Amino acid sequence: MTQKTIKAIDALEDAQRIALAPFVFQTAVSLRKLGVFNYIFENRDANGVSSQEISEALSIPSYGLGVLLEMAESASLVKKNEAARFELTKTGYFLTYDKTVNVNLNFAHDVCYKGLFHLTDAVTNEKPEGLKEFGEWNTIYEGLSQLAPQVQQSWFEFDHHYSDTIFAEALAIVFEKKPSHIFDIGGNTGKFALQCLANSEDIHITIYDLPGQLKKALANVQNAGFANRISGQEIDWLAAAPKISEGADLIWMSQFLDCFSEEEILKILETCVAAMDQNTYLFITETFTDRQQFSKAKYVLEATSIYFTALANGNSKMYPATVFERLIDTAGLKIEEDRTLGAYHTLFICKKK
Ligand SMILES: C[S@@+](CC[C@H](N)C(=O)[O-])C[C@H]1O[C@@H](n2cnc3c(N)ncnc32)[C@H](O)[C@@H]1O
Repeated sequence: MTQKTIKAIDALEDAQRIALAPFVFQTAVSLRKLGVFNYIFENRDANGVSSQEISEALSIPSYGLGVLLEMAESASLVKKNEAARFELTKTGYFLTYDKTVNVNLNFAHDVCYKGLFHLTDAVTNEKPEGLKEFGEWNTIYEGLSQLAPQVQQSWFEFDHHYSDTIFAEALAIVFEKKPSHIFDIGGNTGKFALQCLANSEDIHITIYDLPGQLKKALANVQNAGFANRISGQEIDWLAAAPKISEGADLIWMSQFLDCFSEEEILKILETCVAAMDQNTYLFITETFTDRQQFSKAKYVLEATSIYFTALANGNSKMYPATVFERLIDTAGLKIEEDRTLGAYHTLFICKKK
């Protein structure tokens, strides 16, 4: 149904759903955390379960459990069967067992929830005002290695979930180019570097990242036994004149440039161009808003932009590919190959013009 044809009564219900969305969200978080969704699903062959059975089995006070289940029933997360016993709905099932939904929910709850309260200030002040919920940093990246364990875990699970899946496919394309030295810009925890090093005995990787993150990435790679083929370089791309060395055969940037404003992306690309020769490849992989087949994928990317605004840095977003095409061209690069990776990612293989 389009907004034009929607009935007023349905539009009002939608508006109420939005007005009270945090209540439903926190209800889902609590029921999941308390193990209620799991319990209902695991007992699905017992003709549903009663509130009292759940309360006794999971030692949850009955008053609190009762209000959670009422809200969850109205929000269609659980339903009552003919015997007035609770069953999980399909939505409740996905909230409990779908990997992507869980990664998003943990990220929304542990990383974003409190910070989103400052969204309006973030927009007007052009600063990630929500970040003060965690610490006094200019961007979340400066503080990544110092976030509380649960926040850090949900941040990295979100980050890894949206890039891990394409690494194997990307690796095959990377090695088609026969590189011997790769720069991994924004190497994060060293996951991509690890896969490259395990894939080839000849490859050398240099990771570029902020100090805290670089230390972690190098430790991960060294602990995996690749100390002699990994190196690292601290860099802050927001500093006045960042530089990278010459000598890479291939520069790899995965879900990295979306952490910056258009102006900053241009500066990063120009810095890379200055260190490239005619044979150097620059691989850029991103999830672009205008390249998604599924409306829900676009929805997740748009929510990610809100996270960037309120918490990450206050000036970056998930971009459409058209913006990247323009910036790549302006920086003095050409896109030699425009490929799809998995269901959501695009890979631009660039060279110097
Ligand atoms: C979203 S993560 C992407 C990680 C990884 N490449 C992947 O595909 O999962 C962005 C990375 O960029 C790094 N980064 C963000 N801002 C930076 C800055 N100003 N200077 C250097 N690195 C930065 C972060 O520390 C992080 O490792």
